[in-house]
Amino acid sequence: MNSTDAPQAVYCRLSHAPASQAKPVVNIRVTEETTMNRIALMALAALGSAAVISVAIAQRGPQTPEQQAEQAVKTRQGLFEVQGFAFGPVGAMLKDAPFDAAVVQKEAARVQVTAGMIAEVFQFDTRKFQVSTKAKETIWSNKSDFDKKITDLQTAAADLAAAAAKSDRAATLKAAGAVGGACKSCHEDFRDK
Ligand code: HEC
Repeated sequence: MNSTDAPQAVYCRLSHAPASQAKPVVNIRVTEETTMNRIALMALAALGSAAVISVAIAQRGPQTPEQQAEQAVKTRQGLFEVQGFAFGPVGAMLKDAPFDAAVVQKEAARVQVTAGMIAEVFQFDTRKFQVSTKAKETIWSNKSDFDKKITDLQTAAADLAAAAAKSDRAATLKAAGAVGGACKSCHEDFRDK
């Protein structure tokens, strides 16, 4: 009797359902000559377990409040890293780097976008968590002042974009100074040294 002529089923278990409930996903007739099919079967089985792993990662469950707080700190610090990256070339022009209106225009737009995200990334109040942060508690207890600093930055960044669009060197550098001032003013009040 040649048992290898019997159809072989590849079972794929994508959930935590017991093996008995798994449904065959492919039926392949394997013969002695078709070793390639066995290899294919093994590959499919490997793919099946990879799928189980990725499903498990996707379903790792909701974060604990502590994990959410850590995530919130990472996100807002990441946002400011990007904002610093955007303003960097403009800040350099305030010192000794050659003036380039097109660069200022591009970076001013990035500062506008990131400034528009500050309020959102501070929505999660991390005051009662043990997190490594320079954010002062007054961000949440004195929210209207904090929001005002955000608006100031948005206004300054819009003025910067407008001046750069006109390629007006003097007005652009003045507006760039005002943006730097808006960053500094918020850091003085709401960021630990
Ligand atoms: C509305 C307030 C506010 C404004 C405006 C602001 N910042 Fe900040 N910034 C903060 C706070 C608060 C932190 C500390 C965040 C933390 O540690 O959780 C910070 C942190 C930073 C950091 C350090 C990020 C890190 O990895 O820890 C950089 C860089 C930075 N800001 C750059 C800027 C630049 C550049 C601007 C202006 C274009 C700016 N910020 C405008 C409040 C502000």
